[in-house]
Amino acid sequence: MSTINVVSMLFLFLSITSASACDWCAQQTKASFFSSPGPLNVGACGYGAVATQLYNGYIAAANPALFREGDSCGSCFEVRCKDERLCKKEGVKVIVTDMSRHNQTGFVLSKEAFMALGHDGMTHDLMQHETLDVQFRRTPCEHNKNLSIRVEERSRSPNHLTIKFLYQGGQTDIMAVEVAQVGSLVWQYMSQRIGPIWSTPRAPLGPLRFRLVVTGGYDGKWVWTEEEVLPADWKIGELYDAKVQIKDIAQESCCPDNSYRQKWR
Ligand SMILES: *[C@@H]1O[C@H](CO)[C@@H](O)[C@H](O)[C@H]1NC(C)=O
Ligand SMILES: *[C@@H]1O[C@H](CO)[C@@H](O)[C@H](O)[C@H]1NC(C)=O
Repeated sequence: MSTINVVSMLFLFLSITSASACDWCAQQTKASFFSSPGPLNVGACGYGAVATQLYNGYIAAANPALFREGDSCGSCFEVRCKDERLCKKEGVKVIVTDMSRHNQTGFVLSKEAFMALGHDGMTHDLMQHETLDVQFRRTPCEHNKNLSIRVEERSRSPNHLTIKFLYQGGQTDIMAVEVAQVGSLVWQYMSQRIGPIWSTPRAPLGPLRFRLVVTGGYDGKWVWTEEEVLPADWKIGELYDAKVQIKDIAQESCCPDNSYRQKWR
């Protein structure tokens, strides 16, 4: 690793510590819904059609503040509406796959997720509302899958490599990604394009493995993939199992006691 990389990694560790510390805190916003899955399944996160398969279609577009320039792509939230007559107390769990431009509305939910906010039999009443007042908090993502890496269409073998991470668990953000040939200690830094998509024009020849810096609770930590993730003849459009799962969660009891943040029950 070059000196510059070491220095930037240090900054990374220092600057990421506060980002996730209050993830468990409940906050308030409004939620509305998309009547068709269209906008959500293409999406600012670049998930494409895969988005509708994540979380059984319980997906959400986050407004610019919650989208965090794509860092929220793939993060999960518990959302529940505050109208007890209409809505279940447990709310729904959604995954962010897109950005919405509705300034005052934190989440635009898929119709399935929006309907699931309500008590059984309340769907009709619920759908009369364009927006609902909701409480939300970030929650660990749970996927019954390992972290996986999809080779994106803009890749050009052998050196131009653009990848997308899928099934990132826990309450984590991926802050840095490096790639190396299996058996080599020369790590090539990858740049984040948007959310889960990272690329480099200087990928080593395969087979390739990866290491990532993820936030977990208050700290950043390295996650190393198995020896070989991408074979030497990696293929565009193919999904490769990284054979690791990321499960780190944020620490609790950090909520500032002010009117904008409250404990979740
Ligand atoms: C979002 O809201 C803020 C403050 O209410 C306002 O200044 C800004 O112009 C709004 N942006 C858009 C795109 O509506
Ligand atoms: C995840 O990877 C491990 C190897 O580290 C493997 O044993 C396991 O079957 C994988 N799990 C899934 C759900 O694919």
